[in-house]
Amino acid sequence: MKNPENQVLVIFGASGDLTYRKLIPSIYDLYIQDLLPERFAILGVSRTNFSDENFREKIGEGIKTFANYKNGDVTALHEFLSKLYYFSINTEDYNEYIKLDLRINELNKELETGGNCIYYLSTPPSLYPVIPQALGNAGMSRNSKTNWKRLIVEKPFGYDIESAKELNKKLLKYFDENQIYRIDHYLGKETVQNVFVTRFANGIFEPLWNRNYIHHVEITGVENIGVENRGGYYDSSGALRDMLQNHLLQITSLIAMEPPSSFDPDSIRNETIKVFQSLRPLKEEDINKSVIRGQYLSSTIKGEKVPGYREEKGVNPLSKTETYVALKLFIDNWRWGGVPFYIRTGKRLPTRVTEVVIHFKPTPHYLFARKSLQDGCNQLVIRIQPDEGILLKFGMKVPGSGFNVQNVNMDFHYSDLMDQYLPSAYERLLYDCMLGDSTLYQRGDAAEAAWTFVTPILEAWKNNSNIPVHGYPAGTWGPENADDIIEEKQFTWRYPCKNLVNDGLYCEL
Ligand code: BG6
Repeated sequence: MKNPENQVLVIFGASGDLTYRKLIPSIYDLYIQDLLPERFAILGVSRTNFSDENFREKIGEGIKTFANYKNGDVTALHEFLSKLYYFSINTEDYNEYIKLDLRINELNKELETGGNCIYYLSTPPSLYPVIPQALGNAGMSRNSKTNWKRLIVEKPFGYDIESAKELNKKLLKYFDENQIYRIDHYLGKETVQNVFVTRFANGIFEPLWNRNYIHHVEITGVENIGVENRGGYYDSSGALRDMLQNHLLQITSLIAMEPPSSFDPDSIRNETIKVFQSLRPLKEEDINKSVIRGQYLSSTIKGEKVPGYREEKGVNPLSKTETYVALKLFIDNWRWGGVPFYIRTGKRLPTRVTEVVIHFKPTPHYLFARKSLQDGCNQLVIRIQPDEGILLKFGMKVPGSGFNVQNVNMDFHYSDLMDQYLPSAYERLLYDCMLGDSTLYQRGDAAEAAWTFVTPILEAWKNNSNIPVHGYPAGTWGPENADDIIEEKQFTWRYPCKNLVNDGLYCEL
């Protein structure tokens, strides 16, 4: 592991939650592992008035709560905090960027950071086009002979295909594609990256990884939490935009991609985009059959009353925004032709789990007695979170007379690698950007291709009020009819645990 070149990280939206909970705690973890540049500073920028001292104090609290190394020694924390600075501007006022430029130059001089700079947009999405334009106008966006500039853009990258294209166009006016790092924090998760290694470092899986041996693929990313205090944002977004368009389609692309010719960013990203480009477009008349949307209703979980989505703060009481979506898609290429991919996400489900299940085809002729095709064996489960690991489920003979088959598990848990430190997603991604490695960031064309697939669903929902939003009680596995999109009746989704409520009322909203 090497140390990145000297640089300043400018975080726009520095007074926000993401900076406090994720960004700076992750940078602190890099600091503790001695992975930061020798000369380095963080300049927090936002509208709120803070002094350097106030900012350090606030961020110190965030580190003590959220960093992996939160129990590190006080001197280290103190030293790290001394690298933090704060500058308050109205980010929408272009004139203020001249002052910002002066402040960055001052820091460069004082700390000898050399002029390299990362700008991190951790602001409301409405500012994603505004800040790069202001940086461009102030002459702060271009690489020079002696130093570089990079731009990290948080999600959501656009709202639909048109807005994503528009945003790409605006960013590319001031920054080159190789300066832009579109973040999807799922790509920073160790176990998501392990999909590469599982597939391409082992000869045993790859020969089976295709339509000849795989019956279907199931990808789940669900949570037990509700919308928490993000009702305002979520109500204009919904599960399809919030989780599926980005995180779950990214996982799909890693599962489905062809082996890259080498491990450099463009070889990998050239393969993942082909997956997005091969997604079979959903026609308006298919959307009702292939996509199910739902919204959680109030219920009682373990004796505690849980509000319904429409009762959450910031949410329109008549909202039709989906908090659950399940869909079936096809990847029309030689490897995957005819193999359904089932993808689901939702809030207020019984548990938090992200996993991929590869369901292999059954044997052509089965010699032993069994109940159904879906008997839980013949599956490879890649558990992304929690309890990260890989599980192979297969049938074994029950000892004794006859030939009774029982399902058994070969189960690897990341936690068994006791001495291995599992970096957080932001830690990995920020470190990569500091090094100039964009492998785990989204390229502009991929972001657009993912929106091209998702936008017809959004449009159909907007234009056709007959497409139902199914109410599901909080604490259950989502709308009951989500199983209907699975092609063969003997298969259902995998339910890693039971509903938390038995008596909820499913209904159409
Ligand atoms: C975010 C979504 O991108 O991912 C949230 O906006 C969601 O709604 C979160 O809760 C899930 O991330 P993780 O890392 O907790 O699985």
